[in-house]
Amino acid sequence: MKNTILVTGGAGFIGSNFVLDWINAGLGTVINLDKLTYAGNLENLEDIKGNPNHIFVHGDIGDRALLAKLLAEHKPRAIINFAAESHVDRSIHGPEDFIQTNVVGTFHLLEEVRAYWNALVAANPAEKENPQFRFLHVSTDEVYGTLGPTDPAFTETTPYAPNSPYSASKAASDHLVRAYHHTYGLPVLTTNCSNNYGPYHFPEKLIPLCLLNALAGKPLPIYGDGQQIRDWLFVKDHCSAIRRVLEAGKLGETYNVGGWNEKANLDVVQTLCSILDELKPKADGSSYKEQLTFVKDRPGHDRRYAIDATKLERELGWKPAETFDTGIRKTVEWYLQNQGWVNNVTSGEYRNWVNKQYSGSAA
Ligand code: NAD
Ligand code: DAU
Repeated sequence: MKNTILVTGGAGFIGSNFVLDWINAGLGTVINLDKLTYAGNLENLEDIKGNPNHIFVHGDIGDRALLAKLLAEHKPRAIINFAAESHVDRSIHGPEDFIQTNVVGTFHLLEEVRAYWNALVAANPAEKENPQFRFLHVSTDEVYGTLGPTDPAFTETTPYAPNSPYSASKAASDHLVRAYHHTYGLPVLTTNCSNNYGPYHFPEKLIPLCLLNALAGKPLPIYGDGQQIRDWLFVKDHCSAIRRVLEAGKLGETYNVGGWNEKANLDVVQTLCSILDELKPKADGSSYKEQLTFVKDRPGHDRRYAIDATKLERELGWKPAETFDTGIRKTVEWYLQNQGWVNNVTSGEYRNWVNKQYSGSAA
């Protein structure tokens, strides 16, 4: 097998960070298959434009003919599946796309990967006993449902209890990946990660939304009482965890990935405001915190997520490099330094979404 990997969803937030890191570290060729939905953005990949080791393909993970062609042509040694509809609020407004991509799309992808792997085994029977090929499925902590204030953090054996159409669709895809290992022996790995933040984060999500609204003098919308807890991980740490699991993870296993950074939403946004007050003080001397606005809550809003990433540390030696304090500062600096990216991403379809989600939603 060549030193080529196929990445799906590599023009999105986490996928593009993963591809940039992979190419910049000289780890081999990346075939990047992305549908370029509203969340996919080729500007995220500007830094590797023209690099012969990055081959972008505009297409859908549900397109079996395209997948068969790509697999036969490029013979990847691994597939990393990031492609998904990823925003919980959008899944509440319209679950259909989530079922199509996250469930049906993953199923079609798995079917073509199964055929590809069978062909690898036919050509080299040792591949069955000691597979070199890997299919790594990128999933979320949201499949485990919600925690009470004193519940222990999610481990890999926590039962699945998804609460939103998004998390239900991701849970379904995780189950399919698991079944393809147990039934067909497909060499799979699954990672379940907590909330990411960092460069190229699309500003429909809490941190980039509030950062850009703060700078634009707009309200910072806090759902409900703002005491919902998420476990934040800097995106580059998620990417390093995926590389480590790809390299050394045990086939058929799942690995929880998290930052040991449980924070209430209100605290996260207040921290953002404090950093902005320091790096980009307002002309009138007031704090960005004055823009905090409580709005109506998300339906079915999960109260708390927390990841226990002990298995990944104990078995594979992975630990995050960033604390929340260092990662959030880097994130704010990146947004302040990348105004061109921000301007382009906040035009067009983005405005329609913001109007639909936030107009008339004051608490
Ligand atoms: P994102 O929404 O920023 O990007 C998704 C990418 O997938 C986009 O580039 C989009 O164009 C592409 N895509 C969507 N449907 C497609 C299809 N049918 N075929 C091909 N490409 C398609 O998402 P993200 O935040 O980067 O998340 C990536 C993955 O990581 C998702 O599977 C998500 O469930 C998972 N995840 C995200 C987080 C997080 O905090 N963002 C945390 C844990 C896990
Ligand atoms: O936990 C991992 C998940 O994290 C990923 O699987 C998802 O793909 C990703 O979108 C993210 O989901 P969340 O729903 O946790 O992220 P979001 O940024 O949308 O919201 C974070 C928290 O902030 C959540 O409790 C809802 C709240 N929130 C969000 C928005 C957009 C607000 O209070 N106001 C807002 O305007």
